[in-house]
Amino acid sequence: MPLIAVLPGDGIGPEVTREARRVLEALALGLDFEEAPVGGAAYLLTGRPLPEETLALAKKADAVLFGAIGDPRFEALERRLRPEAALLGIRRELGLFANLRPATLFPALADASPLKPEVVAGLDLVIVRELVGDVYFGEKGRRHDAEGLRQGFDIMSYNEAEVERIARVGFEMAKRRKKKLCSVDKANVLETSQLWRDVVNEMATEYPDVHLTHMYVDNAAMQLVRAPAAFDVIVTGNLFGDILSDQASMCAGSIGMLPSASLCAWSGDNGMYEPIHGSAPDIAGQGKANPCGAILSAAMLLRHSLGNEEAALKVERAVGEALAKGARTADLGGSMSTAEMGDAVLKELV
Ligand code: NAI
Ligand code: MG
Repeated sequence: MPLIAVLPGDGIGPEVTREARRVLEALALGLDFEEAPVGGAAYLLTGRPLPEETLALAKKADAVLFGAIGDPRFEALERRLRPEAALLGIRRELGLFANLRPATLFPALADASPLKPEVVAGLDLVIVRELVGDVYFGEKGRRHDAEGLRQGFDIMSYNEAEVERIARVGFEMAKRRKKKLCSVDKANVLETSQLWRDVVNEMATEYPDVHLTHMYVDNAAMQLVRAPAAFDVIVTGNLFGDILSDQASMCAGSIGMLPSASLCAWSGDNGMYEPIHGSAPDIAGQGKANPCGAILSAAMLLRHSLGNEEAALKVERAVGEALAKGARTADLGGSMSTAEMGDAVLKELV
């Protein structure tokens, strides 16, 4: 029986994760669930944001269903004790190098984006973001330069193996979708990007059916606003992916709608699945949060870690049906509670 580690976290994490778990349970797939505290919730219990037992469970499980973390009461703590440290710890320990962020516009939400409905119509893209390298993980520090001025530095680097494994995920994803892969870099200026582009081009010979294009990141930012529906799969590094995926999320209406997967292999291994939003302290504990991002993350879990495409589609369809029938939490202009929205989705799960 597949084991799902449920790590609800803090803030609205537990509220939305409860609905995602209910959806998984309703599918009656014989999954085992084991829950453990993480982030602020774990700090309160154990004095650490990522207790060893929680990490052990995440490693042992077939997949991790994650809520959100970021309890503001612990913001002043040193970096390693803050709730967010748990997220980086799990990513690092599980080797989750590939972050998949689909941005899909459910037709019922055509008016929800700040962009015009005709611009976002048909939006269905996935950003494949490298998650454990790039300028975020390179050598960094402070020093004084030759003139005695304070200087900060962060080294951007990728080796070819790191580019290859993320490019592989991008190509495999494109192969299963509309067969269009756009690799985003800044190869006109950055050496790291030139290597990135070389490696991606070399791999393209293995995927003759995938149409590969390259785009500079500044142009990509512009195209994501001009014609987001023209994209299928975007593969990019950690920094560019961070920025572009937040930008793309707004095309889909609400941050509460978007799921993500973090994988250590194309499929079959223990990935982590979470909505892209944070702990939303401003609405935590009020039962107002939109659980759709968490529920759609559960769908990604079914698809990528359990290889159950049919069940994944069933969940995604149920969310679409619920929205089509007018189910809305406050972020979408409605008045349903988190649990009511979960009920509305469950009702469509047939
Ligand atoms: P946030 O995503 O928590 O909230 C941003 C805004 O979106 C807020 O107004 C919030 O009410 C709203 N929102 C978010 N999720 C929603 C949902 N499901 N339904 C309805 N409205 C929703 O980002 P913020 O405020 O910048 O960060 C809060 C904390 O979360 C911080 O400590 C941050 O570090 C942490 N964080 C954690 C993440 C994670 O666990 N993966 C990701 C992003 C932030
Ligand atoms: Mg971000």
